[in-house]
Amino acid sequence: MSELGLGTMTILKHGEDEARRILETAISSGIRHIDTADVYARHDVERIIGEVIPSHRGDLFLASKGGNELTEDGMRWNPSPDYLERALHGSLERLKTDYLDLYYIHGGTLEDDLDATIEFMREQKRQGLIRQIGLSSIRPNVIRYWLKHGELDVWMTPYSLLDRRAETLDRKIPVVGRGVLAKGLLTDEWEQRLSDRGFEAWHADELAGELALMPRPIQAYALAAARRFCDVVLPGASSVQQLEETIAADRTEIDEAQLDRLLARLPVHPYKKHVT
Ligand SMILES: NC(=O)c1ccc[n+]([C@@H]2O[C@H](COP(=O)([O-])OP(=O)(O)OC[C@H]3O[C@@H](n4cnc5c(N)ncnc54)[C@H](OP(=O)(O)O)[C@@H]3O)[C@@H](O)[C@H]2O)c1
Repeated sequence: MSELGLGTMTILKHGEDEARRILETAISSGIRHIDTADVYARHDVERIIGEVIPSHRGDLFLASKGGNELTEDGMRWNPSPDYLERALHGSLERLKTDYLDLYYIHGGTLEDDLDATIEFMREQKRQGLIRQIGLSSIRPNVIRYWLKHGELDVWMTPYSLLDRRAETLDRKIPVVGRGVLAKGLLTDEWEQRLSDRGFEAWHADELAGELALMPRPIQAYALAAARRFCDVVLPGASSVQQLEETIAADRTEIDEAQLDRLLARLPVHPYKKHVT
């Protein structure tokens, strides 16, 4: 049985009050799994979550991520244990909690000292600062390494009707799916959100044709498809209205046979980079 969570990357788009309302709406609607990262809005998303959740902490499953070190003009990848230790403690402080239910390494490459990062994560789990070890990655070679050596509890991956690459990997552990609404393309607003760039492996023309054919409401089918593959489905929202539409779509009964046909028709694109 899969679970609906909340992705918080975009909750600050319309200001702090709206961000707080999004979190409160999620919690009062029964959403438990809250996903964040230290870099979202340069620490501010974690800070807002830390203001809202303390009174609900015991009822929530809180996940964050580290490895992207903020710099003056952006961020740089830094999976060294020294940096990760500072990053994790920073997240705990902003989130006003003693532990995270899940802590992800927020990417990485085979050129990293993966064994050092893995040992860091094991140690945090032993100390109880994190309860589960996660990896958020779209690189098959990195994912395979962590699956083999990392005592990984959870893998986060993009997954949607429009990006089914994750189906091509051997999944041995629980999967958290992000990008399940394809940035709003899998909603009633799909026509306004189409661009010449297409989406992932889709060219703009074929994408428009496919979206026009999809069963309605698209958002309900998108969430149902993600729920079939993922243990936790993490739609994002930048307004309360969007979150309410997502929750309503998630509760909408869909025609399972129609979803079977849709999944049989839609392509499963292969990973093109970092395969070996
Ligand atoms: N590498 C990583 O680990 C990583 C990377 C990306 C995301 N994530 C996590 O996954 C979560 C979800 O990712 P995502 O934001 O890419 O996924 P998404 O769910 O595919 O897209 C969310 C976006 O879809 C649009 N949307 C949502 N509801 C809508 C509605 N009812 N009508 C029209 N548009 C709607 C909004 O776009 P607008 O804001 O433009 O309105 C919203 O920000 C993030 O919040 C984050 O927690 C992790």
